[in-house]
Amino acid sequence: MDYQYIDVQPQAAAGVALVRLNRPKELNALCLALMEELTRALEQLDAEADCRCIVLTGNDRAFAAGADIKEMAGRGAIDMLRIDQFSMWERIKKIKTPLIAAVSGFALGGGCELAMLCDMIVASETARFGQPEIKIGVMPGAGGTQRLTRAVGKARAMEMVLTGRFISAEEALAAGLINRIVPVELYLQEALKLAGEVAAMPPLATQLAKEAVLHAFNSFLDHGLVHERKNFYTLFATEDQKEGMAAFVEKRPPQWKGA
Ligand code: CAA
Repeated sequence: MDYQYIDVQPQAAAGVALVRLNRPKELNALCLALMEELTRALEQLDAEADCRCIVLTGNDRAFAAGADIKEMAGRGAIDMLRIDQFSMWERIKKIKTPLIAAVSGFALGGGCELAMLCDMIVASETARFGQPEIKIGVMPGAGGTQRLTRAVGKARAMEMVLTGRFISAEEALAAGLINRIVPVELYLQEALKLAGEVAAMPPLATQLAKEAVLHAFNSFLDHGLVHERKNFYTLFATEDQKEGMAAFVEKRPPQWKGA
């Protein structure tokens, strides 16, 4: 299979495939065509029985500097809804084979989100993680507010999302965002080694274990939000809601009935 924006080595090591984002001049900005190639390649590898683990990497300077700002700049909201670029990310979310991101340099915006979409992250000492979308008038759109918050906690995530501050590999490790840091000349080798360990495990158990870990991780907030919303709406059936809101509007203290 010929790709323009990625390189694929189906057997970089025993049972391990290597996918490299290859748009170096643009710091691997994730244009739609790149994401289409990546999604297709990952789905193909996922379907191959001898592919037990996939390493996703960029180059020493950049894992990926985010979605392609130049491609998106002129679009309106309806264009974005129609194109629905993040539907491809949903497909990557369904990849059963474990994914390891080998990150060096910039992992920003969609680049940070893509690394977090992987199951583990091996970083070089030069890795920088950030969600700088706020600085270009938007916010993270591919899971940044959700996965980052879970990974590094609310305080740090809020600061990163609201100020666009980058964090270093050391801070990312301390916060629990990544698995390990190695010198820049070793990060890919280290990721392949970790992938080799995963690839040596029983494949069905590996896939089901991945699914189970992700379920614990993913279902929590979804359920929490659904529960919260349902309770919020249900309270509009109470007299206290009518009284409380009326009292606010009439500028008087409420009289609660517990009904
Ligand atoms: N989209 C398109 N092009 C990008 C890009 C991006 N996200 N990031 C970098 N580039 C391009 C630059 O425009 C530049 O191109 P030219 O040579 O044609 O001018 C080239 O890559 C090299 O970049 P710089 O010259 O800017 O390199 P630098 O070392 O001075 O700065 C950087 C590096 C700090 C990463 C800076 O490029 C930068 O801030 N990039 C944008 C980061 C960003 O905002 N990412 C979020 C995007 S939105 C998003 O991702 C939404 C989402 O949730 C999915």
